[in-house]
Amino acid sequence: MKTTKIRLDTNFQIGEVDPRIFGGFLEHIGRAVYKGVYDPDNALSDEDGFRTDILTELKKLDMTVVRYPGGNFASGYNWMDGIGPKDMRPVVRELAWQSIEPNTFGTDEFIQLCKKMNWTPMITVNLGTGAPEDARNWVEYTNCPTGTKFADMRQEYGNKDPFNVKLWCLGNEMDGPWQMGHVPAKEYAIRAQQAARMMKYVDKSIETVVAGSCTPSLPTYIDWDITVLEHLGELADYISLHRYVGNHENDTTEYLAVTNAIDQQIEEIDAICRMVQAKSKSNKRTYLCFDEWNVWYKNHITDGEGKFAPNLIEEIYNLEDSLVVAGFLNSFIRHADVVKIANIAQIVNTIAPIITNEQGFLIQSTFFPFQMISQNGKGTALKIVIDGPGYDSQSYGYVNYIDVSAVWNKDKLNIFLINRCLTDNLKLSIELGDRVIKKILNCEILSGKNPKDANSFENTNILQIKKFNGVSIIDHKVNLRMPVLSFISLCVEL
Ligand code: AHR
Repeated sequence: MKTTKIRLDTNFQIGEVDPRIFGGFLEHIGRAVYKGVYDPDNALSDEDGFRTDILTELKKLDMTVVRYPGGNFASGYNWMDGIGPKDMRPVVRELAWQSIEPNTFGTDEFIQLCKKMNWTPMITVNLGTGAPEDARNWVEYTNCPTGTKFADMRQEYGNKDPFNVKLWCLGNEMDGPWQMGHVPAKEYAIRAQQAARMMKYVDKSIETVVAGSCTPSLPTYIDWDITVLEHLGELADYISLHRYVGNHENDTTEYLAVTNAIDQQIEEIDAICRMVQAKSKSNKRTYLCFDEWNVWYKNHITDGEGKFAPNLIEEIYNLEDSLVVAGFLNSFIRHADVVKIANIAQIVNTIAPIITNEQGFLIQSTFFPFQMISQNGKGTALKIVIDGPGYDSQSYGYVNYIDVSAVWNKDKLNIFLINRCLTDNLKLSIELGDRVIKKILNCEILSGKNPKDANSFENTNILQIKKFNGVSIIDHKVNLRMPVLSFISLCVEL
């Protein structure tokens, strides 16, 4: 097969990669919080109840910002149930996932976890069953100096200093008919506008994420976004996008082309932001917050049947899923000028890169591309010219076999490559227009024999990151032969 040629130039820039694209999402769902990150009765937990082994693994993902407490859960959540002395907090029936919620993990515990992990907190307010005023009160609780009702409560419960939560999502998936409090766009827009205004009156430094279309497959896609953006105007700092994808037809080649659809969704929502900005003659640009994304299609157990911490949507991930996760991140980097925040959904147990049991954990395939990209993907995203073989996919159009993104940082260039070809190891040549590639600093690979290869508790090392030695520099060009179905993170010195 013909060599794939990749050409770059450090003058041809897309924009700075916002480190917040390497974000996560922690919802009160299944075993994500309880028996996930928080398990006070477990011998592996610290004095605050956090599973130390899980936090150690999560640190490797270099996550920057974490969204909490949902998700669908947020749309029925009374945040005041989750504060104060733990023995006074109510045990409630939680409706989004039909589970028992003891409220022993709430706002203060989330902030404590963020501090341990060096995460930036991002909170979703309840605009389903909650009132805009509840959202306003929550901002006072987290962000205001003491001296008024809710800030004083924070002090009374042990935290004098404000938590300074900067990022606030105005509800979750409010366009989805399954959402508690789902309403037509116009009504959501009114609620969100009322909430945002009061929240910003309480603390003008906060940033808001308005709930955009949660999937392109809903009939309200785009119209919803236009309505809410027009109504919120400059109160919307970001608009949210969500996307879950899967290999529904068990066709790996087709599945791996889904990156085209992710690119398309980003470009469509950005176009709407620009259109609304132009119509309203505003100087303010609304940016994109991809605050739920992942592979999710194998496990649909979402009914907790009235249990505490039930086993819900614990998807097992394989090699092809990990290549799709890499594709999401490549797409965010290629759109670094517009995608400012992104949160993999989720972080532990529920559609997550880590699965826990009482004694330990399992690192899933999707952990690795996130780790490889988040650890090396900070800097300036570069434009890429790619010329090589590809294929026509049925649903997503034409794609190159190689999917690529590149991030330049001073004398280092990091290139993230996916080979989606099932049959051929592909020859690649990478060259820079304006700088000399001096040496290979690091090259790591995730690959396997079969797209369905997956780690399990019985066999934890089927998939792991390995050094890749098949890369060289000839005439200042990087040359490599990339194995079938693999992901490579390459770092070169300029
Ligand atoms: O991440 C699981 C669920 O998926 C979230 O709660 C919801 O927002 C989405 O539909």
